[in-house]
Amino acid sequence: MTRPLLIAPSILASDFSRLGEEVRAIDAAGADWIHLDVMDGHFVPNITFGPDVIKALRPHSQKVFDAHLMIAPCDPYLEAFAKAGCDIITVHAEAGPHLHRSLQAIRSLGKKAGVSINPGTPEGVLEYVLDRVDLILLMTVNPGFGGQAFIPEVVEKVRRVKAMVGDRPIDIEIDGGVTPETAPLVAAAGANALVAGSAVFKGGASAYAANIEAIREAAQARREA
Ligand code: DX5
Ligand code: ZN
Repeated sequence: MTRPLLIAPSILASDFSRLGEEVRAIDAAGADWIHLDVMDGHFVPNITFGPDVIKALRPHSQKVFDAHLMIAPCDPYLEAFAKAGCDIITVHAEAGPHLHRSLQAIRSLGKKAGVSINPGTPEGVLEYVLDRVDLILLMTVNPGFGGQAFIPEVVEKVRRVKAMVGDRPIDIEIDGGVTPETAPLVAAAGANALVAGSAVFKGGASAYAANIEAIREAAQARREA
C-alpha cells in the first residue's frame, strides 16, 4: 500500500523571533506537517525549545504537529509534549535503554508514536518495536543542526527499513539535508514523509510555497517512476 507523500517543514530553520508567524506561513504555503525539533544540549550538542513553546504555537495551525525529541531522558517529558498538542511524538532509539516502554507511553497518551535512528545506528533496533510505532524517522544527518549535508549511505537503509515494514501502516520519514536533489533518492527507496528545514525556509516567506512544491514534485516523480 502506498502511503501519501508528506512534506514536513522544520521550524528549526525559521526565524525564532517570529515563530507563530512562521508556522502560519508554512501552513499557508502547503506544509502537510509541522516538524518540531526539540534538542536538549545533552543527547545532541544544541538546545532549541520545549513543550511550552510548542503549546504557544498550537493555535497557529491545525496541521499535524510532528515532534522530534532529541532529548535524553525522554520519558519524564512525554506527557508534557502530549499536553502541548503534539500529534506525533518521536523518540530516538539511542536516547535510552527502554525504547519499547517509551513507545508504549506515547500511545497510552493517545498520540502517534515514532522511533528515530541516527545515521550510524543499524536498523535492527527497529525490529521488535515495529508493531508499536506509527512512524520511523531515519536521520540523514547527525542530529543537532540544520543545514548539514545529506549522508547518502542512509538511502540503502531506507530501502531495508521499507522491506522490514512491509504492509504495516507506518510512515517512513527522512530528516536532514532534504532538497529537491536528495528527495527523489529517498522517495524512490520508500520514504513518504520528508522533513526539510533550510530548503523550505530559504528566500523568505514569499518563497515557501515554491520551495515546498519543488521538494514535493521532485519526490513525487520518483515515486511514480
Ligand atoms: C536535525 C533536525 C532536522 C533539521 C533539518 O537535527 O532534526 O529536522 O532541522 O534541517 P535541514 O533540512 O536544514 O537539514
Ligand atoms: Zn528533526
